[in-house]
Amino acid sequence: MNVLVTGGCGYIGSHMTLSLIENDYEVVVLDNFSNSSLESLKRVEVLTGKKVNFIEGDVCDKVLLKHIFSQYNIDHVLHFAGLKSVGESVNKPLQYYENNVLGALSLCHVMDQVGVRNLIFSSSATVYGDAKIMPIHEGIPTGSPTNPYGRSKLMIEEILNDLVKADLGWSVGILRYFNPVGAHPSGVIGEDPNDIPNNLVPFISQVAIGLRKELSIFGNNYDTFDGTGVRDYIHVMDLVDGHLKAMKKISNKTGLEIWNLGTGNGYSVLEIVKAFENASGKKVPFKFVSRREGDVASCWADATKAERELNWKAKCSLVEMMEDTWRWQSNNPNGYKTS
Ligand code: WQD
Repeated sequence: MNVLVTGGCGYIGSHMTLSLIENDYEVVVLDNFSNSSLESLKRVEVLTGKKVNFIEGDVCDKVLLKHIFSQYNIDHVLHFAGLKSVGESVNKPLQYYENNVLGALSLCHVMDQVGVRNLIFSSSATVYGDAKIMPIHEGIPTGSPTNPYGRSKLMIEEILNDLVKADLGWSVGILRYFNPVGAHPSGVIGEDPNDIPNNLVPFISQVAIGLRKELSIFGNNYDTFDGTGVRDYIHVMDLVDGHLKAMKKISNKTGLEIWNLGTGNGYSVLEIVKAFENASGKKVPFKFVSRREGDVASCWADATKAERELNWKAKCSLVEMMEDTWRWQSNNPNGYKTS
């Protein structure tokens, strides 16, 4: 079975590529290095002992996509390529809509033309907007996302819904991630943002290793038990396992299905700081600052649909998430930038 992984050099994409190879899939990776490096793929090859077919390029490039589908007999597409920072999207909406929405449109257009219609789409819990009732299940209205990143993901979901209605030959799985964190237990691959980390855990990790002075906590006056934002953090290896199960599930049926990939547990920013300090043995200095635009107070998953229909449940604990993050960071103080 041949799988095209767009964004396969990125944080989640590289962990997915590793797991696909370990499960005897043939993998083709497309990546433009907008938030990744080839080093991640080189390390996947070392870990698996297998060469990975790699093409550098942009998922918006339909000519390149056609070339890939003509070169490789692709059966499934896992679409990770996209910009993913809530905070950044507020300041760069055009970049987010062009990259995320146009990228997905280009991909679907070419897939339709070449007759490959098995697609897993990396969506996000941000499509739920400021949901008031926790835990969040797939049936609640997707409300209005509070930022361009979330709106771009919701637009793509709508596009996929319309595509499947128009052509029942498609098999689409939409996976709504909550907050992916952690790293492969080997410590060889992990999350390595190109610039200042927008997300909490990589930022904390860089404070612990001494790359950053202190953590700014965006608001401590939310309506949560300790005033800081609550999120559902899920280990990237659990997330990857959810993709494998979803890919198998949609290969046996047409239509579109949506699954939350979360643990069902919410942790506050302060709880994550504490958990990371315990896992790393390092102090993480922080200060409270004003809220970040686009943030919601709380967001955690009802993941029972994936448990029921995919026979999938997140297994990794918060301790494992923090310990695996720290192993990656302490083994690679400069990420993939080999000194
Ligand atoms: C988590 C909490 C912040 C940074 C993420 C991804 C998005 C999507 C959904 C996959 C919030 C607080 C953060 C910092 C802080 N994932 N924080 N200081 O915004 O929930 O969204 O999950 O598709 O791609 O961005 O994650 O890690 O940015 O924030 O206080 O320096 O940590 O306010 O409460 P978020 P995050």
